[in-house]
Amino acid sequence: MSSDGQKIAAVVLAAGKGTRMKSERAKVLHEACGRPIAFFPIRAALALDCAPAVIVVGHQADEVQAGLTRQFPGAPLAFAVQKEQLGTAHAVLCAEEALKGFAGSVLILAADVPLIRAETLQKLVHAKGNADVAMLTALARAPQGYGRIVRNAKGEVARIVEEKDATPEERELDEINASIYLVDATFLFTALHGVGKSNAQGEYYLTDIVARGRSVAVLAEEAEVSGVNDRAQLASSGAQLRERKNAQLMKDGVTLLDPAVTYVDDGVEVGADSILEPMVSLRGKTRVGKGVRIGQGAIIVDSEIADGAEIFPYSHVLDSKVGTQAMVGPFARLRPGAQVGERAHVGNFVELKKTVLGKGSKASHLSYLGDSVIGEGVNIGAGTITCNYDGKSKQTTTIEDGAFIGSDTQLVAPVTVGKGAYVGTGTTVREDVPAGALAVSAGKQRNIEGWVEKKKSKG
Ligand code: UD1
Ligand code: CA
Repeated sequence: MSSDGQKIAAVVLAAGKGTRMKSERAKVLHEACGRPIAFFPIRAALALDCAPAVIVVGHQADEVQAGLTRQFPGAPLAFAVQKEQLGTAHAVLCAEEALKGFAGSVLILAADVPLIRAETLQKLVHAKGNADVAMLTALARAPQGYGRIVRNAKGEVARIVEEKDATPEERELDEINASIYLVDATFLFTALHGVGKSNAQGEYYLTDIVARGRSVAVLAEEAEVSGVNDRAQLASSGAQLRERKNAQLMKDGVTLLDPAVTYVDDGVEVGADSILEPMVSLRGKTRVGKGVRIGQGAIIVDSEIADGAEIFPYSHVLDSKVGTQAMVGPFARLRPGAQVGERAHVGNFVELKKTVLGKGSKASHLSYLGDSVIGEGVNIGAGTITCNYDGKSKQTTTIEDGAFIGSDTQLVAPVTVGKGAYVGTGTTVREDVPAGALAVSAGKQRNIEGWVEKKKSKG
């Protein structure tokens, strides 16, 4: 149901191969701003309360269906399969079954138009009135490749001619078809059954329905309706989506030191008073709290960064959690399952994997901590390594609250260092260390006097 009470269903055309992408992967699954491009027009359609939204799939149908279903949990999506891609009219006809009995208007969108906004689609709803078709057009600086709008003497839309079928005069027309329409459902399917394929491409053209009824056009911005047909257009659409996301973040109180080189995916959240330095990448489902500073070149994927934390430059954080006021990096690596506690520190060249580092604990330099449970107030010395893999399976290292691990320690898992225990520098811990104990494993140091001189005289 749209805002003025009409019932609207959507049909999104996503069956084509996208030959010009030169890809093994269906075009509509190529990503821009962290989402498959088809995500954006579908989201815009759903914002108008379209139900159902029928996605016509064909090329790599299973992958496209799975990829898009994942993006819209709980949304009224339906899928229709177009086995052979015989043209855009044929594609819409494939949705007929899914829309059986539906009597309102059908919003038709191509899946390769990611910049379209819900506000612009809403204009079609207002413009349609009792016309059969309301469609978006744009005045293009570069109309090549698009269908052109041919108007009659009264200036009304008469028909659409595809570039390949156009006369030289028609090719001069700069009003293009955006391939986004709102069509009366009954008119639509009746008209579609009458569409033939005697044209330059031998395809069933959806554009042919325009001449079969009363059609009105709404002018949109060229940039908003530009399609993604090749890699260059994918890059430029991605850049525009990013620009929109960054503008929204700044509006919400986030500082971007240089928005032109800040890469925040569409699905990412960032709290107010956070600062993003240049070349930061925030990807996937990442959530950043308030007052967080993210240093230059940091890459954060599917992770949660709590309020007041700081990620120093060139850190890589993947599927991890960083607690309030914690500090991570520079050059830290948090692999999946790392949980850095409140006010804990992870320093340079420290790697954590599936490891909980408790509140206020510190691992400041050059360490690998994997499959570990580390308590609160623990100090991990430089060069500490958990030997968590015995060649067959992964084992757990447990370090209890307040323990102190000297530099260059190896902890051979499974092993536990008890509460408040000390491990001397250079120790290989193979057995559990009781609470309050000191563990040392290195032998007593031996100095051989005059050894260097003796070696020299031997030659
Ligand atoms: C289409 C329009 C053209 C318009 C342009 C705007 C037609 C005949 N032409 O041309 O007037 O200016 O879009 O971008 O409609 N698809 C299917 N099944 C098919 C064919 C296409 O699902 O059998 C899908 C594609 O995946 C794509 C969309 O429909 O998402 C548009 O198809 P495409 O081949 O890109 O059409 P254009 O040649 O760009
Ligand atoms: Ca296209």
